[in-house]
Amino acid sequence: MIMVTGGAGFIGANFVLSWLMSPNAEGIVNLDKLTYAGNLANLETLEKDARHTFVHGDIGDKLLVAQLLEEYRPRAIVNFAAESHVDRSIYGPADFIQTNIVGTFNLLECTREYWGNLLGDEKRQFRFHHVSTDEVYGSLSASDHAFRETNPYEPNSPYSASKAASDHLVRAWFHTYGMPVVTTNCSNNYGPYHFPEKLIPLVILNALDGKPLPVYGDGQQIRDWLYVGDHCSAIREVLANGRLGETYNIGGWNEKANLEVVNTICKILDELKPRADKKSYTEQITFVKDRPGHDRRYAIDASKIEKELGWRPAETFDTGIRKTVEWYLDNPTWVKGVVTGSYRDWLDKQYRN
Ligand code: NAD
Ligand code: DAU
Repeated sequence: MIMVTGGAGFIGANFVLSWLMSPNAEGIVNLDKLTYAGNLANLETLEKDARHTFVHGDIGDKLLVAQLLEEYRPRAIVNFAAESHVDRSIYGPADFIQTNIVGTFNLLECTREYWGNLLGDEKRQFRFHHVSTDEVYGSLSASDHAFRETNPYEPNSPYSASKAASDHLVRAWFHTYGMPVVTTNCSNNYGPYHFPEKLIPLVILNALDGKPLPVYGDGQQIRDWLYVGDHCSAIREVLANGRLGETYNIGGWNEKANLEVVNTICKILDELKPRADKKSYTEQITFVKDRPGHDRRYAIDASKIEKELGWRPAETFDTGIRKTVEWYLDNPTWVKGVVTGSYRDWLDKQYRN
């Protein structure tokens, strides 16, 4: 079996669900702390699937992680567990340091002990896959080439600095201890089960709720959007065939300004769920105060993973965003479950002014 951490969050849950779609898939032990972003409803369809074992716990808990490794003896670990929201890292970086840096350190140390005691093929085949972000490379100007794996690390937010630190730890555990690691640095994901603190699900749900659609600054910041299913297929490919100690950038070749993304969502909603007054949802767009230290542009050059492993995304932005809007319209129960009191408190704190 394999161990997944953070598998009740957005990307982790999509990964677990897509992995187990294959009838011959190895089982998964899924360790997740269930922070505000972890949601067992994402895994509801697996309730009766004996191949999935959920463990409620922290990657920073040494005893627990060591015990799980001994008990389940995974042949690979895929580390999704993290604090992931840039705006929250600006309000309170402590959890980001704790989970993203100290937690990853603990996971690496427990894995080193476990892997060190494996023998023969088990030892040779073992993999530690660290899931990271393009934000570690900092911000691009309009004319810069997209991020390559060789770009220097220049993180600008507490979130990206903590992810950069974790990437460095993973790299060091390869070079110093020979641990069999691979790291992937991915661009902005979107799709089903995305927690609505992030731009795309926030805009979909606010639009349907008749609320303002908050666009930071001038809305011309650029992100490179990737449908979450494509991120999961890339991780499977790197886990199976990636070269040890390497990093692979993953992206959608889909650079879009935020305002364009918001307008596209409004257009799809105008078609699928028109407002009662027949006006466009674009009427709800509201420019708000910019994010401090807001990175202007991210773009991924994903040619290494394509050349070495033959991976390319299957979805375009047009197909992926339509599927995503449809998913939110089709899943009101899931939406109701995540829009809790603590979520409303966050919206109030972040968008009050
Ligand atoms: P998320 O916030 O939706 O989910 C994170 C999950 O990790 C949650 O289920 C949470 O409960 C769990 N978790 C947090 N702290 C933990 C701890 N100490 N121990 C165990 N579990 C813990 O995040 P996501 O968007 O699914 O991102 C997953 C990973 O992918 C992160 O490492 C993130 O940095 C990376 N990433 C995200 C994106 C994106 O666009 N969302 C893009 C590139 C990389
Ligand atoms: O690039 C990969 C990263 O993408 C991941 O590592 C992060 O975990 C993930 O959260 C995401 O980070 P961003 O900060 O780019 O995502 P977010 O959805 O928060 O914001 C996307 C863009 O939209 C960004 O330029 C900020 C802007 N924005 C966001 C929100 C929440 C707005 O204009 N208004 C908003 O209300």
